[in-house]
Amino acid sequence: MAPNIYIKKMQFRSPKYEQASIAIPSEAADVSRAFNGTVCSNKGDEYAINNNIIDFLGDEAPAMSWAQSSNHWKLTASIYEDIWRKRSLSILTGEEFPIKKEEKLLIEWLNPQPNKLYLDVGCSTALYGREVKKSQPECDLVALDFSTQMLQEARLKAEADQVDLFLLRADARHMPFFGATFDGLMMGGTLNELTDPLKVLYESRRVLKKDGVFFMMHLVKADAWYARLLQDSVEFSGLKFWTIDESNQLFERAGFRVADQFTKGIVCFSKLLPA
Ligand SMILES: C[S@@+](CC[C@H](N)C(=O)[O-])C[C@H]1O[C@@H](n2cnc3c(N)ncnc32)[C@H](O)[C@@H]1O
Repeated sequence: MAPNIYIKKMQFRSPKYEQASIAIPSEAADVSRAFNGTVCSNKGDEYAINNNIIDFLGDEAPAMSWAQSSNHWKLTASIYEDIWRKRSLSILTGEEFPIKKEEKLLIEWLNPQPNKLYLDVGCSTALYGREVKKSQPECDLVALDFSTQMLQEARLKAEADQVDLFLLRADARHMPFFGATFDGLMMGGTLNELTDPLKVLYESRRVLKKDGVFFMMHLVKADAWYARLLQDSVEFSGLKFWTIDESNQLFERAGFRVADQFTKGIVCFSKLLPA
């Protein structure tokens, strides 16, 4: 796979110095070739790239809930997409909901364009990011997660799909990007497990351009009392659920407006635009 010829010089923001930028070599996105090295800001802070994974966290272990820490196990990462994710929406909506249907909505609402830049927030195996790249190979994509194990799986899957993307290990609560960097964002199921969802939504709004689009899939509170009981009982692990009204208030507080929304069972898809 040749590196995407459309990649312009990729500039991330230093996680340490808000004014400092870090140039990322485009070869790092070519996951068919292992890329190793270091990148450095003009202030001198340095970060490793290991097997294409740009690591802005290093040995830093961000505070996380039990639900989040389970994503750092190799076993979870290796079975996540094929065993759980591809069936998850059929299980959660209570009806046949093939992954293709979800992917179709993602592409329809995000409408990825050539030479534009997209971010998959809390990407896990980058199911969304890979789909966006498959549908629009001439766009650029950054897949961000704080789990090395998930990013390693994302790398393997991107290589198998023959798509190029930047794999970034960073904390979504402090996104290492300058304001108005991205033309589109996507987040699949991550909102429910964030320890600070409002902070991540604020960060998402900050890095999204004014005419950008945010594709959001998250789980809402169930209607049935027994299902709510179940949701309440897993909240100890760090998972959170909101009603649709509460979710929309959260989006609005972070500076978004809901342009379109579609709910099936407890699964809610939203097309968010900067307010
Ligand atoms: C439910 S999974 C996401 C699934 C994926 N988006 C999909 O559609 O299949 C949530 C992911 O978010 C990541 N995550 C949670 N909190 C994060 C944070 N603060 N910064 C970066 N990644 C985070 C976890 O490591 C995990 O891989």
